[in-house]
Amino acid sequence: MRTIDDLDVAGRKVLVRADLNVPLQDGRITDDGRIRASLPTIETLLARGAKVIVCAHLGRPKGEVRPEFSLAPVAGRLGELLGVRVVFADDVVGASAHAAVGGLGDGDVALLENLRFEPGETSKDDAERGAFADRLAALADVYVGDGFGAVHRKHASVYDVPERLPHAAGDLIATEVSVLEKLTERVERPYAVVLGGSKVSDKLGVIDNLLGKADRILIGGGMVFTFLKAQGHEVGKSLLEEDQLDTVREYLRRAEETGVEFVLPVDVVAATAFAADADHDVVAADAIPADRLGLDIGPESGKLFAARLAGAKTVFWNGPMGVFEMEPYAHGTRAVAQGLIDSGAFTVVGGGDSAAAVRQLGFDEAAFSHISTGGGASLEYLEGKTLPGLQALED
Ligand code: 3PG
Repeated sequence: MRTIDDLDVAGRKVLVRADLNVPLQDGRITDDGRIRASLPTIETLLARGAKVIVCAHLGRPKGEVRPEFSLAPVAGRLGELLGVRVVFADDVVGASAHAAVGGLGDGDVALLENLRFEPGETSKDDAERGAFADRLAALADVYVGDGFGAVHRKHASVYDVPERLPHAAGDLIATEVSVLEKLTERVERPYAVVLGGSKVSDKLGVIDNLLGKADRILIGGGMVFTFLKAQGHEVGKSLLEEDQLDTVREYLRRAEETGVEFVLPVDVVAATAFAADADHDVVAADAIPADRLGLDIGPESGKLFAARLAGAKTVFWNGPMGVFEMEPYAHGTRAVAQGLIDSGAFTVVGGGDSAAAVRQLGFDEAAFSHISTGGGASLEYLEGKTLPGLQALED
């Protein structure tokens, strides 16, 4: 994969596809991690005399202009962090985008409006996507792919534009890929994987693939109840995916056969309702009362998980252990984060909710070897899938 060092960018218009899909609450950015992760590439390009045009998506507006998904707040924060003027275009490939790009002075940056306001960006129809890619590519001389969180999407700005312009991978993608290679091609063992989050169905591919690769797999979060049920335990009103029970039983069987250790919680915080102020108690994982739902792994499980991480040389973690946004159910996620730090292993936190959890719970990001910006993207990489955005940068 070419990197930006291989590109001639001085005086040229460089289109950078970044992942600036940050959480917003009432128009305010609640976690700017992805913006900060995008800075090194933009700064390097500016230092080398490029005119930088940034494009990105926010949320899933499905091809419609919806003001609540505008990237305008991101333009403000990007400008603050870069310390340069960021000109915001209020369309993607229209008059405003052309004016913003045309007026770019040395050291200025343009940010285009949300790519997903254009139906062509996400279209499954190659011709429609291609037509939009033509218009986007026409804004620039060179393309840099740096939106790691979106490389698993076959979208115009990710997949089709690099076919149309000289291209290279930005620093973020280069870093993310070299970390993922350490989890696949050059893994140091023992290799432990912690998976959480609400649904097993989101993690099927990765579990399937890891059964041949990881030494132990620790399961928490809402998905754990499907595992407990598959082992014959009652799970009360907890989240359950009945249609995945057979698949999970098959995983448990294969794990035994291949010597992969599955670690499940031994206790659970069970509440009367999905609310921070609901009555809640710690109960044994095989004795969840019929009228309760599990919202976190319990304290003994936190200790067990930390113990199973100690001694690992490589740890990958994706998905919170409980509803960490509510303090009574944050303990398990905190225990796992601390377990990663204490393990001394090469630790990778998969993006999305687990990365947000690490920051929200006040952990020092530098205590982990790498916090990925891509949740879905890093999982699909670990599933062994070909990611369109990486494939496009390789060609
Ligand atoms: C993410 O949030 O994981 C990336 O920005 C990709 O977003 P998407 O799942 O809406 O494609």
